[in-house]
Amino acid sequence: MQFFVDTAEIDAIEELAATGLLDGVTTNPSLIAKSGRDFMEVTKEICDLVDGPVSAEVVALDHDTMMKEAEVLRRIADNVCIKVPLTIDGLKTCKALTDDGTMVNVTLCFSANQALLAAKAGATFVSPFVGRHDDNGFDGMDLIRDIRQIYDNYRFETEILVASVRHVNHVLESALIGADVMTAPPAVIKALFKHVLTDKGIEGFLADWEKTGQSILK
Ligand code: G3P
Repeated sequence: MQFFVDTAEIDAIEELAATGLLDGVTTNPSLIAKSGRDFMEVTKEICDLVDGPVSAEVVALDHDTMMKEAEVLRRIADNVCIKVPLTIDGLKTCKALTDDGTMVNVTLCFSANQALLAAKAGATFVSPFVGRHDDNGFDGMDLIRDIRQIYDNYRFETEILVASVRHVNHVLESALIGADVMTAPPAVIKALFKHVLTDKGIEGFLADWEKTGQSILK
């Protein structure tokens, strides 16, 4: 499963990129606003930091303006992935861009039928929002299971990018279901490394090592 980080904070992206485990980045207008940075400038910096796809979202609601915005965004770098909302105009834009060889992430997906439409529009990625699904009394992971089943039934190549990930169990379940990608805030990715027994084990080993009086580096 590929790991994307869902942020526009350069420091956090740099830190995770240094682990070698980061496959891409997703942003959205809310994350850009939170960063307080210029959209074009920060997107360019992110694209220079990672080799994988960097999602940058259009804000227009009509197809013609979405295409114009996408044209500006895709000139930023080769690894820009244009993010469009799951609407009729968004999917029309998705079809035109992917037919032209541009990566597209169809966002704000909340039903398996919407995901089916995104795949038919040739989306590179579809982003079902599991956390927001849970917030509204549904089970976000059931949505991922349904999309996986449909995509496998028809051998769609659109990758399932699990978004609105709030905790480590969303990541675990996504991996068990066979989602292609998950995007999570830096704190959730960092929490994946943690286990109380790992910390306790290190503590015990170091205490015993000290008793030997040895050192590996002379
Ligand atoms: O990847 C989508 C994400 O940014 C939305 O997350 O937590 O605002 O639902 P959240």
